[in-house]
Amino acid sequence: MGKRIIVTGGSGKAGQYVIDYLLDQGHQVLNLDLTPLPAPFSDRVHTIRVDLADSGQVYSAFTSHFKLTEPFREPLDLLPDALIHLAGYSRNMIVPDNETFRGNALSTYNVIEAACRLGIKKIVTASSVTVYGVSYAEGDVDYPSFPVHEEVDTNPMDTYAISKVCGERIARGFARRFGTDNYVLRIGPVVAPHEYKGTVFDSYIKTPEKWAAHGWGYTDARDLGQMCDLAVQKDGLKFQIFNAVNDEITNYTPSAAGFLARVCPDVPHTREMDARETPCTNKKMKEVLGFRQNHPWQTYYET
Ligand SMILES: NC(=O)c1ccc[n+]([C@@H]2O[C@H](COP(=O)([O-])OP(=O)(O)OC[C@H]3O[C@@H](n4cnc5c(N)ncnc54)[C@H](O)[C@@H]3O)[C@@H](O)[C@H]2O)c1
Repeated sequence: MGKRIIVTGGSGKAGQYVIDYLLDQGHQVLNLDLTPLPAPFSDRVHTIRVDLADSGQVYSAFTSHFKLTEPFREPLDLLPDALIHLAGYSRNMIVPDNETFRGNALSTYNVIEAACRLGIKKIVTASSVTVYGVSYAEGDVDYPSFPVHEEVDTNPMDTYAISKVCGERIARGFARRFGTDNYVLRIGPVVAPHEYKGTVFDSYIKTPEKWAAHGWGYTDARDLGQMCDLAVQKDGLKFQIFNAVNDEITNYTPSAAGFLARVCPDVPHTREMDARETPCTNKKMKEVLGFRQNHPWQTYYET
């Protein structure tokens, strides 16, 4: 059955596709963002302009109608069933570091606090594989071990990833306090449909040894929609973290483990990997939530 879902940051690169997917599954969606949703996505969903770093705006928007009608016809007391929190600065150096931290950590605190206090039972929060500490390190550092699963230590040195680690801790603490389902998605580099060709993706394939920073993985924006939907549908898991990436390593190696042993000779392997398993493994996403990718990158590179 369709649910009422608030998406934050739905006007952004990932959010547009996430909202599109959720609407296609029959959900009702309200988008909360500082900026408008571009067409054609904007025809399908209402956006309220909200600064999530302002807690009062968050509470007010969370208790809003989903649709602008004249007159209003929805009951006033309908709570959302779920919150999907995507909003934030999506990398370092969009703004100065202190603002990256303030914006991301405070917005995440505000939305999780308001959701829990208002009684929203399912909260899905966007984190990032950058929390594993390689992407924005000062210089080359190694992953702790392969495959990089959700229990691996997160010890980043950059502000963006530190803000994401803080968001994960907020989700964890509030799940413990309120008994809600707070699921964290550690998203990989997001790829929109038009971004497979003539972009950095070509370089993933041609010079894969350069791409430790992206974990030799990616997250298709449409498949991220499926991941969010699965997280909304699966109840009762309390606090959980999922690597939210697609299935396969982003180059043509026949052996992911062999490739990683060559480019990262000092990193231990803690189990055998599937032949072309993505290094920041998505096994938990597949086994616990039932994710089945619809958009393998090879579709765009068939000769
Ligand atoms: N793009 C990636 O490769 C990537 C990778 C891993 C994780 N993520 C995470 O996924 C989420 C979505 O990423 P994206 O690429 O769509 O980012 P994006 O920058 O395209 O979109 C983020 C949206 O959040 C909104 N926003 C920012 N601060 C806000 C605030 N205070 N109040 C209301 N809205 C605010 C922006 O207006 C924007 O529309 C982010 O949390 C990001 O950190 C992204």
